[in-house]
Amino acid sequence: MKTGRRQFLSLGTSLVACGTSSISRAAEGAPAVPGTDLPLIVSTWPFGRPANEAALAAILAGGSLLDGVEQGIHVPELDAGNKSVGLGGLPNDAGVVQLDACIMSGPGHRAGSVAALEGIVHPISAARRVMEKTPHVMLVGEGARMFALEQGLASRPNDTAAAYEAWRKKRAEKAAVKPATEKNHDTIALLILGADGNICGGCSTSGWGGKLPGRVGDSPIIGSGLYVDNEVGAAGATGLGENVMRYCGSFLVVELMRQGLHPQEACLEVIRRIAKKDPKGMGISVSFVALDKQGRYGAAGSAAGFQYAVTNRKTSTVLKAPGVGNRDIGPVGGNQSPK
Ligand code: GLY
Repeated sequence: MKTGRRQFLSLGTSLVACGTSSISRAAEGAPAVPGTDLPLIVSTWPFGRPANEAALAAILAGGSLLDGVEQGIHVPELDAGNKSVGLGGLPNDAGVVQLDACIMSGPGHRAGSVAALEGIVHPISAARRVMEKTPHVMLVGEGARMFALEQGLASRPNDTAAAYEAWRKKRAEKAAVKPATEKNHDTIALLILGADGNICGGCSTSGWGGKLPGRVGDSPIIGSGLYVDNEVGAAGATGLGENVMRYCGSFLVVELMRQGLHPQEACLEVIRRIAKKDPKGMGISVSFVALDKQGRYGAAGSAAGFQYAVTNRKTSTVLKAPGVGNRDIGPVGGNQSPK
């Protein structure tokens, strides 16, 4: 099923069209979205908004929540201008784009994931097939690529021999990997609470631009870049994966929601905890989005300026999340322009 922004706009929903001028700070403890307005879709960054809208269109056209996750994430994965998701993303230190993605289904607590995947247009679809067609949770590298090709997923040529040679030369000259910031990587994490009360989510990224070949970040790691618990809620991460993976960040957000925290407060608390332990303190460059079973949602960043997209049947907008630290990551955040 192919869905897009045009179809979303023609669905007759009372969409409130929101551009950059309408970006607003999320109300402290956003109220629950009424059940009649579900599905609720929350994702990272302004480029999450067209993804949310594609997800909503897929669901309103009769697709499942997983179809919504997959179709939604296809949007940034296909966007050649997106430098942090899909094959248009920034390459690694060997000049090769390596992609990470995962998907989780609340019902059945199922998960699928791919990492360091080369040449496949839609890593989120590969992750979904790992979940649905294999007894495994995670496939990596060439094995993941062969599986995706066997599944008939679209691919692009990815000749790495020349790039590998160039990388070896550069390493010999002791070229350093550029430190990651919000400017050279971010990620889409997309969460959906359905009208039936079920929750699904997905995450996709090209990771840290200039990373060492083979480096895998938080995005395909269940509990780090994404976590879904159908009894509680879901959370997803963006930012410097190394600072999420060591703390099981998304799992921790969900566990704090289980203990009664509002999704926004849970995101803030996880960032505070990481910053307290981490030698980088507030310089950790991480942000989280979350939603819970009651239809409440929220987000937070280690720096001010992180933006996230929220969509339901009535509205589709970009909100500004509170930052724990004083640093500001800029007017838009990441390396993307709002769409
Ligand atoms: N959060 C994406 C990455 O670090 O790869």
